[in-house]
Amino acid sequence: EKGTYPHYMLKEIDEQPVVIRNIIQKYQDENGALTIDENIVSAMKEADRIYIIAAGTSNHAGLVGKQFIEKMAKVPVEVHISSEFGYNIPLLSKKPLFIFISQSGETADSRAVLVSVKEMGHKALTITNVPGSTLSREADHTLLLHAGPEIAVASTKAYTAQIAVLAILAEVTAKAKGLSLGFNLVQELGIVANAIEILCDSKEAYEDIARSFLATTRNAFFIGRGIDYYVGLEGALKLKEISYIQAEGFAGGELKHGTIALIEDGTPIIALATQESVNLSIRGNVKEVVARGANPCIIAMKGLEQEGDTFIIPEVHELLTPLISVIPLQLISYYAALHRDCDVDKPRNLAKSVTVE
Ligand code: F6R
Repeated sequence: EKGTYPHYMLKEIDEQPVVIRNIIQKYQDENGALTIDENIVSAMKEADRIYIIAAGTSNHAGLVGKQFIEKMAKVPVEVHISSEFGYNIPLLSKKPLFIFISQSGETADSRAVLVSVKEMGHKALTITNVPGSTLSREADHTLLLHAGPEIAVASTKAYTAQIAVLAILAEVTAKAKGLSLGFNLVQELGIVANAIEILCDSKEAYEDIARSFLATTRNAFFIGRGIDYYVGLEGALKLKEISYIQAEGFAGGELKHGTIALIEDGTPIIALATQESVNLSIRGNVKEVVARGANPCIIAMKGLEQEGDTFIIPEVHELLTPLISVIPLQLISYYAALHRDCDVDKPRNLAKSVTVE
């Protein structure tokens, strides 16, 4: 099934433009407008606060989803790690709606939370890639990712699919609430799919960076602000799980509060600059670490680029940048793992679905 691909991970990275186009189609009505089961839309409209519960990469997609739902649909959102929520339940709002994000739909930590919130009488929506999965069956509602089977342990296309579906959920909710977005999401997601295709076409560049930048390092840091910070968390998780490089994602402004002590001569820093509002401040953070010897790889969106940037990614709507800024990070991780002779599709100590708490 891998066809000509050496690994499922590379195949699944390359599938992302098709997945995004497929999702648009699956969620369009006969007039081309985005649409979602009306029971889900009512649940979104009635909620006074949304609680997103997810683990790992799905949790990182949830952080991006929070931005979408708050900015487009104007509903406050909290994002929680499944395994923490169970014994540390926050004070809930009067009409909460729970959204479980899970590629497999089988993650035990997430299921444990679902069981307890159902017992408390709350409503739940599961966003999953697997129809009929446990989390889908046990929740009140399901939205499918339509990403096709994800075989590699490291999640790639499920992450971008989760983000695309969350954007659609936010858009449809906004529309139902009579809020106007000022942009056409179908069109913008189409632009994203084309941009991912362009990014996937320059694999040698990512391979070169992985070779020159990450082949022998013990550690690496990802920095960004706002939505770029969330993508940095995902980039760090991807790199550590398949290449075993100690990697961490940090909010740019937080470096000076401790982390900057870790910077040594040659420490790789991967910085994301896709947001105009924080472009100058993240550039300032890059200067701070470079002054202490860090070796920077800067991924900037077209229009915000500066001399010396490593990758310029195509311009897309500012809310949707995670869908494309993650692509270089996935590919850099892939090639770093390859050059370090790691088992890309089956990293040590990990399973594709984690069915124990
Ligand atoms: C990382 C990865 C994991 C999963 C996590 C949740 O690449 O795949 O972090 O995202 O175990 O799994 P699901 O989404 O199946 O609940």
